[in-house]
Amino acid sequence: MKRLSLLTLILHSLLFTLHAQEVPVPQNIFARDIVSLNGDWHYFADPQEQGYYGYHMEKLPWGYFNDAKPQRPTDLIEYSFDNSPTMCVPGDWNTQDSMLYLYEGTVWYRRTFEFPQSSTMGEGEGRFLLYFGAVNYEAMVFLNGKELGKHVGGFTPFCYDVTDVLRSGQNSLVVKVDNKRHRDNVPTRVFDWWNYGGLTRDVLLVCVRNTYIEDYSLRLAEKGIYFSVSLNKPEAGLRVTLTIPELKVKKTIETDAQGKASLPLTKTTPQLWSPDNPKLYDIVITLEEDQEQKANSQPSALKDQIGFRTIETRGREILLNGKPIFLRGICVHDESAYTNRRLTTKAEADTLIAWAKAAGCNFLRLAHYPHNEITIREAERQGMLLWEEIPVYWSIAWDNPQTLDNARRQLTDMIHRDHNRCATIIWSIANETPHGEARDRFLSTLAREAQSQDSTRLISMAMEVLSASNYINRLQDNMHEYVDVVSFNQYVGWYRDVSDAPKMKWEVPYEKPVIVSEFGGGALAGKHGAENERWTEEFQARLYRENLDMLDKIPGLAGTCPWCLKDFRSPRRLLPGIQDHFNRKGIISDQGQRKQSFDVLRHWYEGKK
Ligand code: GCU
Repeated sequence: MKRLSLLTLILHSLLFTLHAQEVPVPQNIFARDIVSLNGDWHYFADPQEQGYYGYHMEKLPWGYFNDAKPQRPTDLIEYSFDNSPTMCVPGDWNTQDSMLYLYEGTVWYRRTFEFPQSSTMGEGEGRFLLYFGAVNYEAMVFLNGKELGKHVGGFTPFCYDVTDVLRSGQNSLVVKVDNKRHRDNVPTRVFDWWNYGGLTRDVLLVCVRNTYIEDYSLRLAEKGIYFSVSLNKPEAGLRVTLTIPELKVKKTIETDAQGKASLPLTKTTPQLWSPDNPKLYDIVITLEEDQEQKANSQPSALKDQIGFRTIETRGREILLNGKPIFLRGICVHDESAYTNRRLTTKAEADTLIAWAKAAGCNFLRLAHYPHNEITIREAERQGMLLWEEIPVYWSIAWDNPQTLDNARRQLTDMIHRDHNRCATIIWSIANETPHGEARDRFLSTLAREAQSQDSTRLISMAMEVLSASNYINRLQDNMHEYVDVVSFNQYVGWYRDVSDAPKMKWEVPYEKPVIVSEFGGGALAGKHGAENERWTEEFQARLYRENLDMLDKIPGLAGTCPWCLKDFRSPRRLLPGIQDHFNRKGIISDQGQRKQSFDVLRHWYEGKK
């Protein structure tokens, strides 16, 4: 086995770190000058990670990331991307290869591509960023055999500046994806959804100028619209122009020494976005290049669609644009209907939103992790309010600082990606976490960070109600002081007190709006029987009727999102002939069959308009 000298290895890695680094994901990535790397990628599973570690578990300098091919007849290379099968990216591996349906481990992916020609820049004028919309769970990215970095967290985007690593002609992009569950991960080892592994969202090459708009924010403020922008580097004196044609806005501001600029647009009164009027405005932001701007190059322009609204609380009310609103919600996973795989297309997002609208919903709880950006964009376009959440789910490793850093990173990346998306009104930091000091420290840190990163939205989390005594259910959670909306899950009628919902009383001793963020029960679509026979549609419909009557007695109820819109895959749901690896609490089956509970909910929501 060839052994590289230690010096070579050190030089090799040192050289590499100087050239490729992770950079913040530019805001509104799809409006940029992008080259898609989606499509068929070669892949193979590597359960023992032998493509990265030697047989003494040492890191291999000549691992699979080299995408090596035999040069001489004597060469020993025991892998070949070229001769391996392909799978579609974006997409999970579980539903594309029956051998990988339950697989949890490493899969190596590779695709090659030619040096990209930018549509807006001449040679040497800009940078190339390599963007991943999400990779579940751990990604190690290699370009032309060089390690760019490692990313953990399965639901948020990340990117690398690869300008100095790209080569003319063919480039080899290799990604090691590992979806193994670990105690210290976020989420931890147990969760009630399918552990879809892979390059589950878009992979793009983004061409940007040396100096570019990295982030911007447009939102309704006290007296009009507040606009702020930040460049990827601290450059002063660059002119940024915001245009909103329909509002006859065209304003130019200059960046300060930090490369930032902001502008309150007073006396600008846009139509307010709401579910009944999902008004979006076309906006354009241009950055005039610095003084050495090349004569033939155009200012880089960014287009977006922005909705303007306010969201706040007043006592136990949620106010949208200053008026009380009842959140007629439903929970949903980031899983397509019919095909039941990680969602990747606009059509799949539209189906779920259409189903929720048909049930009378104006609100979707995107459980339990950041969903595909497509869904957030479609909800904004179609007038569906959103609850977005990070997967701090059940019993996280509260005492592990790395776990907290991971959760903070996922929270920051979710807010960074979607902070211009008006449909999102709630950031949720957790789901059903057990009470305790370490948990309170962990979650209060997240709540404060969410508040400081985005003071324009509401903070919440799905709490748990301690069990009832003589039918009194009292919500007691130290986290109540850190959230704007007090939300809790309850399963009266399913996990407890199958027939006691009518006797239940609820006490929520906090002067804040209350959302019942989950309730429900399972039913197999098409299974019929008595109302006390579990798994029948009749049982589930009765549970919904009794729970909804019970919710009507909860003081300060500002909304609910039953669990859930669609049956979804889960390795925890094993009952043959009924569950078969599906959680059956949907009001619609995984094949689109509406269950009787669908009409019970729809009817109740009609009374909540
Ligand atoms: C929990 C959890 C969900 C889960 C549901 C269930 O409340 O939040 O993720 O799927 O209950 O048991 O079906």
